[in-house]
Amino acid sequence: MEGIEVPDKQPVTIAHISDLHAGSQHFIPNLLSQTVDEINKLRPQVVIVTGDLTDAGFRQEYKTAKTFLGLIDCDDMVIVPGNHDSRNVGHIHFEELFGLRNNVLKLPGITIVGLDSSEPDLDAGRIGRERYKWLEEHFAASDGIKVLALHHHLLPVPGTGRERNVVYDAGDLLEVLIRCNVDLVLNGHKHVPYVWRLEDIVFCTAGTASSLRLRGKTKPCYNVVNIEQDKIKVYRKYPFGGQELIVDLALNEKNVCKWDRVTTQLGSG
Ligand SMILES: [Fe+2]
Ligand SMILES: [Fe+2]
Repeated sequence: MEGIEVPDKQPVTIAHISDLHAGSQHFIPNLLSQTVDEINKLRPQVVIVTGDLTDAGFRQEYKTAKTFLGLIDCDDMVIVPGNHDSRNVGHIHFEELFGLRNNVLKLPGITIVGLDSSEPDLDAGRIGRERYKWLEEHFAASDGIKVLALHHHLLPVPGTGRERNVVYDAGDLLEVLIRCNVDLVLNGHKHVPYVWRLEDIVFCTAGTASSLRLRGKTKPCYNVVNIEQDKIKVYRKYPFGGQELIVDLALNEKNVCKWDRVTTQLGSG
């Protein structure tokens, strides 16, 4: 059977949070504390943070984000910066406090590549062809689940205003991801949670976990991804407020398409 294979059938749980916006007047510390508590109860194998840890890239904002993220009881974290983190030369604080802006985590059965899609002092995102080969090499060396984490969107998301949120080179990057058989793309940015499927890739956009920088009737939320031998489920969880199943896919044994749709709930919750 082609597609995802998890060695020794151990399920993998990934907590995906985004857009903390520490330092913003809309940042709510209680929401982040609650999110951290809920994640610690889940005991995920991996925690992914897809950018906008801070509101303006200032060192004190980074330190606040670091304090909260340091309370997460998980050894394997993938953290990438967002456009807000790259304001005011914020990338130097990111590198000092969180490490590389582009990073790879390989665990048994899963490879996660984190990409910095931000540009200094710009809201727009870009990956750039100079990183495609690097990306392909890491995914080519993996036979398990392949996950890309970045801040900006690769596909437009409804309810996010006039489109300027997709990385400049989204078309070329999507082709690279399809060629690499990537399974899952996790991102944040506009605080509107959403799910798309394109070819065999599931794209999960997380909302903001801990701020009230909200559009329309969206609520603070984060994602939890459960991957088993032949199933992938994504839950949208609301700090203090329960959860809903938004993706439930099973491997198609006929290999016509890798995934059979069981449930995909779109919309912003
Ligand atoms: Fe944001
Ligand atoms: Fe953003």
